Amino acid sequence: MSVPPVTRLKGLFLRALSRITNRHAVLLPAEAGRDDALIDLRAPYRVTGAVLTVDLRETGSGRLSATLLGYEGHFPVRVLWTGEAREYPGPSALGLDLVSGAVRLDGSDWGRVPLPLPGRRFCWKLRLVAPDGRVRERLTGHYVPLDVSAVGREYFEGENYVDHEAQSAADHQEIVRLLRSHGARAPVLEVGCATGGLLAALDAEGLTGVGVDVSEWAIARSAERLGPDRTWVCDVEKDELPASVTARRPFGTLVLAAVLEHFREPFAVLARLTPLAAPGTVLVLSTTNRDSLCQMLFGSEWEGHFDWTHRSVDQISARTLRAELPALGWRIERLTTDLVWDISADPTRATVREWWASDARFRRLLAERELGDIITCVAVKT
Ligand SMILES: C[S@@+](CC[C@H](N)C(=O)[O-])C[C@H]1O[C@@H](n2cnc3c(N)ncnc32)[C@H](O)[C@@H]1O
Repeated sequence: MSVPPVTRLKGLFLRALSRITNRHAVLLPAEAGRDDALIDLRAPYRVTGAVLTVDLRETGSGRLSATLLGYEGHFPVRVLWTGEAREYPGPSALGLDLVSGAVRLDGSDWGRVPLPLPGRRFCWKLRLVAPDGRVRERLTGHYVPLDVSAVGREYFEGENYVDHEAQSAADHQEIVRLLRSHGARAPVLEVGCATGGLLAALDAEGLTGVGVDVSEWAIARSAERLGPDRTWVCDVEKDELPASVTARRPFGTLVLAAVLEHFREPFAVLARLTPLAAPGTVLVLSTTNRDSLCQMLFGSEWEGHFDWTHRSVDQISARTLRAELPALGWRIERLTTDLVWDISADPTRATVREWWASDARFRRLLAERELGDIITCVAVKT
């Protein structure tokens, strides 16, 4: 992807400024520079009822306008509804009824949003102009929780991921690198192999393997990609592993990439998989960290709860892995946490991910205190 000229210019400017000042220059959004730039409000990220209420706390009066935005790909750019500017009397509740589409300001009708909304994520873009002309704005971020049982195309291409293939490709390369650096050997078993992207990347490295996944849709895609007898539909919490899988044991490597947090009983699954290993088998896990900084900050509104199939996201942490893996006969060789995982459009939440992206000291702090959102763990069977 080519970098736009403005972005290139900014990069050049910041590098020059860093050099001249011997400081690390970064650009923050304009609202970072003014305490009165953002509208003071409280609003849920996760919308659990039929009505989303944004509690506007600004005490002064003014004129308020509101635009409801839907997502195109990763960005909230699609205008779904615009409310003409109207009198804002002071603290008020902005309600959006997700069943009827009615928009109300303190109970009085403002209009009607066309339903259904095009996706689970949406935002309010609010603008409040005070009588003296001062402008405050705010983008909010919201999503509607889902509870669907089958994991089909919609999960991988819209309802959970925007585009799983594109979003997971770099993670797969990282896992390949990790496997290489820990001397992982074939055959590989990937549990939760989805559409076979990682298995294909491992093939290219000469580390051939097989996979299982509960999603029939994903396994059909993986068969198109990898050919027959490489992947099978299997719910590893309930089903016997296919005979074609158990016949290949002991595996040189077991991989569970972004999958442990999906199980109801993650450590029971690890106990079931352990007999497929032999001394020296390498286990690679990437998973969520319920003791992360973002989990502490956002609680039930932590990004880990967006995926409705994350059934044990509240059970897995660096601490629980350190307790459970050795008890199953795995010696941990590496356990790190990384990343601020937050996708909300709200600029107050964006602070944490922008800080993480632009300050190496913050990244080090999270790594040293094991406060990152994603755990990478490599263990060896004793
Ligand atoms: C977040 S995706 C990760 C996919 C892949 N490992 C990757 O890194 O791209 C989680 C995968 O785990 C699968 N999964 C969830 N629960 C499962 C279960 N009980 N048994 C087998 N697979 C499961 C899902 O169908 C999905 O493909």
